[in-house]
Amino acid sequence: MKSLAATLVGLIAPVQAGLRFPCSTLTIQRLDPVVEPGNIPSAHVHHIVGGNAFNATMEGDVGERATCTTCQMSEDFSNYWTAHLYFKHPTNGSYHRVPVLPVQPLLGGSQGAQGGLTVYYTQFDLTRDNLGKQKITSFPPGFRMTVGTPTEPGKPRVGLRYQCLQGQNRGRELDDFPTGPCSGGIFTTHHFPACWDGKNLDSPDHQSHMYNTVTRDGFLNAGPCPSSHPIRMPQVAFETVWDTTKFNSMWPSGGKNPFVWSFEGTGGGTHADYMFGWKGDSLQRAMDKSECFYDGCGSIQKQQMAVANRCAIKETVVEQTDGCKFSLESMRERKVLTLWQGW
Ligand SMILES: *[C@@H]1O[C@H](CO)[C@@H](O)[C@H](O)[C@H]1NC(C)=O
Ligand SMILES: *[C@@H]1O[C@H](CO)[C@@H](O)[C@H](O)[C@H]1NC(C)=O
Repeated sequence: MKSLAATLVGLIAPVQAGLRFPCSTLTIQRLDPVVEPGNIPSAHVHHIVGGNAFNATMEGDVGERATCTTCQMSEDFSNYWTAHLYFKHPTNGSYHRVPVLPVQPLLGGSQGAQGGLTVYYTQFDLTRDNLGKQKITSFPPGFRMTVGTPTEPGKPRVGLRYQCLQGQNRGRELDDFPTGPCSGGIFTTHHFPACWDGKNLDSPDHQSHMYNTVTRDGFLNAGPCPSSHPIRMPQVAFETVWDTTKFNSMWPSGGKNPFVWSFEGTGGGTHADYMFGWKGDSLQRAMDKSECFYDGCGSIQKQQMAVANRCAIKETVVEQTDGCKFSLESMRERKVLTLWQGW
């Protein structure tokens, strides 16, 4: 499988629009306005980045309501989130939240993000052959989607991957958690599908309004959108680095992987959520540019990460999310687990 780094080396003269930018952590809370709107708290802890309109019941034109964002692209008030990663102590069973590190940029120096994740919006894929070949339509206001599901672990999905970082070396892509300690942390990638049905801002399972044409490497779309989902949207992906290093010495040699997602699930249950929130036509303008890559495409405003880092929201769910059984007990009490079954 080709790594992104290898793919980029092949790009001698980039001539298509592709955005890649850091977003700092906005909040770590049990909230999920897509899958569990209105549930305070939601079933499990999430790591959330993006605009400050984020709340348990958010909907509609997020780009018009938010006033700041933790993302470098200052017109992007979208929210992006995944489950949070925990270390479950192999002998005493206590849970510890794994810190998040900014993704080391492939190009250029550190951009000053705090935790967070790196977001991609690419036109079609990242190969030279397909540069600028397709019209890409921006998401409409109110659009949302998820990828992956916590309730069907053990069913690896295309584009949802793990890598074991050894220093700056990402290693090969895995369907599940690495089976031994990773000196540089665990790298996760979540690719979303890029074909839309052209009608629904959401669907009951938050997925069937979209269609995935990726069959292999998440950054390579494999074919045209089908007639059921004819509109080619930007390919959205997130990358997160979970800094597992302080837990590595507590992973007994030969023992099984001690890292769990906040829903206690195994690696196959990895999933991610997206709520569109670009202001006005800013994302469409970027996607329509034919000669830019990663730099904001000339028309997108950027902000210093020092400014982005000041964007914050109030904690709605006030609880300790580290060093305790963060959600399992309350999940059982509230039978929230059954809620996930229908997902
Ligand atoms: C959450 O956002 C929605 C709009 O998306 C707004 O109507 C609602 O008042 C907000 N709730 C709170 C508690 O701020
Ligand atoms: C379990 O062990 C870890 C590491 O020694 C420690 O930090 C944690 O407090 C322990 N938890 C309990 C419940 O004893």
